[in-house]
Amino acid sequence: METPKSYHMTPDEFRARGREAVEWVARYMERVESLPVLSRVRPGEVYEALPDAPPTRGEPFKAVLADLDRIILPGITHWQSPSFFGYFPANASGPAILGELLSAGLGVQGMLWTTSPACTELETRVLDWLVQMLELPGAFRSNRRGGGVIQDSASSAALCALIAARERATGLVTNRRGIDRRLTAYVSDQTHSSLEKAARIVGIGSDNLRVVPTDRRGAMDPAALERALAADREQGATPFFVCATVGTTSSGAVDPVAALGQICRREGLWLHVDGAMAGTAALCPELRWIHDGLELADSYCFNPHKWMFTNFDCDCFWVADRAALVDALTILPEYLRNRATESGAVIDYRDWQVPLGRRFRALKLWLVIRHYGLEGLRHHVRRHVELARRFAGWVRQDRRFELAVEPPLNLVCFRHRGGDAESSRIMEALNAGGELLLTHTRVDDRMTLRLCVGGTWTEARHVERAWALMRELA
Ligand SMILES: Cc1ncc(COP(=O)(O)O)c(C=O)c1O
Repeated sequence: METPKSYHMTPDEFRARGREAVEWVARYMERVESLPVLSRVRPGEVYEALPDAPPTRGEPFKAVLADLDRIILPGITHWQSPSFFGYFPANASGPAILGELLSAGLGVQGMLWTTSPACTELETRVLDWLVQMLELPGAFRSNRRGGGVIQDSASSAALCALIAARERATGLVTNRRGIDRRLTAYVSDQTHSSLEKAARIVGIGSDNLRVVPTDRRGAMDPAALERALAADREQGATPFFVCATVGTTSSGAVDPVAALGQICRREGLWLHVDGAMAGTAALCPELRWIHDGLELADSYCFNPHKWMFTNFDCDCFWVADRAALVDALTILPEYLRNRATESGAVIDYRDWQVPLGRRFRALKLWLVIRHYGLEGLRHHVRRHVELARRFAGWVRQDRRFELAVEPPLNLVCFRHRGGDAESSRIMEALNAGGELLLTHTRVDDRMTLRLCVGGTWTEARHVERAWALMRELA
């Protein structure tokens, strides 16, 4: 019998092309330092360089790799450059990338325990490891009432926390009938915008998201929170949720979680703590002060995809009472019924997130933790914090610059004393030069430069060079 024609890449071809792809990535790691950090393409340039129509006949992999170099690479802003100091990092590493490859190779859809028990159980184990590694409250462990899950992003974690809090506050009635009272949630003026997006999505509405003022360092003022709660209760509203941040996006401020947590306990409010970038610092015992009071939180998240050498996407999210989350999100249609679920003996992570389907993200996290070990992770995190402190020291000593706030960890916020225009000029010149990338924020209503040290390949010489360039431009 004639073998039917196949267009698939055979395992042998995959082996050969796979080697080329891995070689391409390894070469990229070697040369990323020499590429202009901020992409210089103009809007539409990449789109126009691509053919109008897709190919009818399949093309050789070599042609695709050539276009990767010719068309795609110029349109990349190099987040993996050792001189990428903008936003927050999204660092990656060899073990994480290999974990991603293995996950793609297995091609698992881990919505239910039964659709791949290892996908669920590795995730549970790795998140329990992280409770130990970061010394998080014991209540977050899976053998207690809580547990952890990997979400795609901190935004999704906040959304899930808000939904669980809403249902807890309304006795699971809102899921059925919709919101029948005025629910109010509380953030600070430094909270990430994902909380406002989540408030819109869950039907709370932006107007019912109260923005509590912060102090000079950008931390939420607990007394102001109490005043806002009292005023809302007086108006007949039902306060139900507070989000505290450990390491705000703008300036790295740390909210007083313990004081906020006590208020939440007293008032019966759900406390979510967002440690998206800074949470990684808790790998180091001397930096764990950032989590003081976390035992009062109902939920917590941080992103290994920011600072823990795990390529995007990977957000770790824990709850102290998993029933609150699962009860809010579970729906069991006939086609998903199975014996394991009905036995009650397994975790079905589809009930811990918004989408049904889920990737095997725990693999890359497992590879990262096993490759570096706690010792390796701590070493690099400490190094980043030390480099940021060194940079802050240079700023302090130069009469032309000033720190906007004392840097708690690896983010330095500073500005030119000459004013906003001078700070902007320096940032634009640096970014146009291609040697590094910086971004900005406003602190005390003044243009402020942000330098965040968190790149996998960042060494002292990159931070020294950044400072030398800044001094030349000042
Ligand atoms: C404090 C904080 N929370 C949440 C987010 C959103 O992260 P994600 O992209 O994982 O949704 C960020 C992003 O920088 C952040 O800094």
